[in-house]
Amino acid sequence: MQNEYEIKKEMCEIGKRVYMRGMVAANDGNFSVKLNDHEFLCTPTGVSKGFMTPEYICKVDENGNVIQANKGFKPSSEIKMHMRVYKERPDVNAVVHAHPLYATTFAICGIPLTEPIMPEAVIALGCVPIAKYGRPSTMEIPDAVSEYLQYFDAVLLENHGALSYSDSLLNAYHKMESVEFYAQLLYQSKMLGEPQTFSPQQVEDLYEIRRQFGMKGKHPANLCPNAKAGKPSCHSCSGSCGKSTAAPVAADDADLVASITKKVMEQLGL
Ligand code: 13P
Repeated sequence: MQNEYEIKKEMCEIGKRVYMRGMVAANDGNFSVKLNDHEFLCTPTGVSKGFMTPEYICKVDENGNVIQANKGFKPSSEIKMHMRVYKERPDVNAVVHAHPLYATTFAICGIPLTEPIMPEAVIALGCVPIAKYGRPSTMEIPDAVSEYLQYFDAVLLENHGALSYSDSLLNAYHKMESVEFYAQLLYQSKMLGEPQTFSPQQVEDLYEIRRQFGMKGKHPANLCPNAKAGKPSCHSCSGSCGKSTAAPVAADDADLVASITKKVMEQLGL
């Protein structure tokens, strides 16, 4: 079990990685770690997360109020977003927010990451929806993110960046890496041609592997609003449940899309 100082050191280490991998520019990004129900460590606002030392890290309560901060440091301006995740996901112990280049490009174009193109992304993430745009530091972002918290462990923030969360800081950070790698692969394969996507059956087989691994967290394999209603999940209904502007696809529409896709693929011999 890490003590508080060791957690602060780990936050600095993750800050370096996020910065060195170009997932944030300048002073962007923020992350936090839950110590217990009433105490959380978070990165300070307005500093480069690539150059932090443990003294930079602030401590806040469950409402984001400062418990301890060294002179010159204030908690992240996005602390409300972090607190909303902890409030609505008791299984989460760490939250990471960054602006990775490819993931943020998709968020700016309003395109959720829903095309099933590689096994690891399907198994680890399922789909990555887009939470609708909110002004930084306001309650608009936590409110927009809230819609997806029970179904996904990573979301894009429209015209802004990405958010991931997990049972540990390392896992939340790895989730951010996976989101960015998935976004980069999707972007580059679209540049090269039309990405070959998995069939609904192949997706379901991958979902089954995830279930057998007993992987923790929220994932469309079990929780996509459509899948939950016994309908095709987002990988086979064009990610409609991940589109912030559109209502979840009607069950009948989802069925129709799935059956047309199946017939077309059969005719193409796929
Ligand atoms: P803070 O430095 O206040 O955490 O804000 C950085 C950021 O990326 C806001 O979205």
